[in-house]
Amino acid sequence: MSTAARLRVNGAEREASVSPEIRLIDVLRDQLGLTGTKEGCSVGVCGACSVLMDGALVSSCLVPSVLATGAEVTTIEGLSGQTLTPLQEAFITEGGFQCGICTPGQIVAASALLAERPRPTESEIREFMMGNLCRCTGYQGIVRAIMKAAP
Ligand code: FES
Repeated sequence: MSTAARLRVNGAEREASVSPEIRLIDVLRDQLGLTGTKEGCSVGVCGACSVLMDGALVSSCLVPSVLATGAEVTTIEGLSGQTLTPLQEAFITEGGFQCGICTPGQIVAASALLAERPRPTESEIREFMMGNLCRCTGYQGIVRAIMKAAP
């Protein structure tokens, strides 16, 4: 059984039906229309559904929506305003994507990394980003993009 709740998503109050069975990704995509968050493996392994909850990186396919009430949720749509962030620009210029299905999760995860560690080494980037799988790029462009975006 679901209940109506208010969530804070990308800085705005949003109403949604939540329950222990409804996952955060379903609220984001199906109820709030935030389809930038992608569903990949559905078991918390691939990182495609990565979002931030109170600044912490989470797999939204594993988070029951009731746990998101009272938290500040940030999706890929909430990272930039009218213009792309330097990280998003770097993904374009460095060839950090091909098919793009993993890209929102990669960028959300990389944002969390740069917030925590503004000047990461290449090995720190590779270690942090291990939870975000990409079947297309071979990861080189992703790593270059994150290094380029580091201030
Ligand atoms: Fe295709 Fe990463 S760009 S899976």
